[in-house]
Amino acid sequence: MNSNQVQDQVQGRVQSQGQDQVQDLGRAQGQVQVQDQVQGRVQVQSQGQGQGQDLTGRVVIVTGASSGIGEATARLLHRAGALPVLAARRADRLTALGAELDTAFPVPTDMTDPAQVRSLVELTVRRYGRIDGLVNNAGASFHCRLEEVDPVAYARLLDLNVIGVLSAIQATAPVMRSQGEGRIVNVSSGTTVLAPPGVGAYAASKSAVNMLSAVARKELADDGIDVSLVLPSITATEFGGGMFRDGGNAPPGLVAHTPEYVARVILRALRTGEERIDIPHGPEQPEFPRSPWAPGAPGAPQVPEALEVPGT
Ligand SMILES: NC(=O)c1ccc[n+]([C@@H]2O[C@H](COP(=O)([O-])OP(=O)(O)OC[C@H]3O[C@@H](n4cnc5c(N)ncnc54)[C@H](OP(=O)(O)O)[C@@H]3O)[C@@H](O)[C@H]2O)c1
Repeated sequence: MNSNQVQDQVQGRVQSQGQDQVQDLGRAQGQVQVQDQVQGRVQVQSQGQGQGQDLTGRVVIVTGASSGIGEATARLLHRAGALPVLAARRADRLTALGAELDTAFPVPTDMTDPAQVRSLVELTVRRYGRIDGLVNNAGASFHCRLEEVDPVAYARLLDLNVIGVLSAIQATAPVMRSQGEGRIVNVSSGTTVLAPPGVGAYAASKSAVNMLSAVARKELADDGIDVSLVLPSITATEFGGGMFRDGGNAPPGLVAHTPEYVARVILRALRTGEERIDIPHGPEQPEFPRSPWAPGAPGAPQVPEALEVPGT
């Protein structure tokens, strides 16, 4: 991409004809993918043209890229030929990952500060001239019974898990609108389809993400922006001090997934723009059914009645 193209994007004008043709083709492929999903034939793919939109050359901001699911997503994006923009607070980690992934662009960002989020978007546009995808993944756990919730600490969590997601959508949507297309993937949690004792405050924050995502999908549809929701089950990362690593603290009947597994699903959502993907609890599966909108609807993933994390 040359400097003229960057200038054009900052001014909100369209990209070169060649790029538009590639993007139109990708969108057409994405529609085929969604149609196939209704018929239940889609498989999780970590790579591959013809499986929705080709991610080659796509500029994708990944928040929370310094560890866990976000880091794994950045690695898979790099492998798919995309240009991941790495956002998180720990600059040393982002610098190291950026050095390893030659197409990555580290931008240290505190997602609880809307000014930093706007700066993340501005720096990305200045560098690449466009933003094709946003993965709203940065988030934190909050595990205790409701009577023990410290309101001040919980307000900080909401700043990250909820307001951070909103700020990123607000900062990114105008850029995608000027392009006539874009994909946003919001990372929620499987706890939101339960009423999990000991995890209620966290699940409530992610339930807010579910609603923001659903409404943003409707509000941005006419601008060519697809908003997707991914609901991971428990995943072995640094989340909650690494409580799901090495099988530790996994609630009975649940199996901690690898962050790469979740990242593959996030890439699927980036490729297809589909509305929602619930990652089934239990052992990892290479293939999912299309997730129904309402929990409990026919074909919905089987989930335990309640999720209580031992020791909380
Ligand atoms: N692991 C699970 O069992 C599980 C299950 C369902 C959903 N999820 C969701 O998956 C997402 C990723 O979590 P994970 O499991 O990968 O956990 P993780 O390894 O702890 O990663 C969390 C990421 O969020 C970033 N982050 C935290 N505060 C931030 C801030 N103020 N500004 C910018 N970035 C911030 C962290 O980076 P810095 O500290 O460097 O800022 C880190 O990169 C979260 O939204 C989580 O709620 C996780």
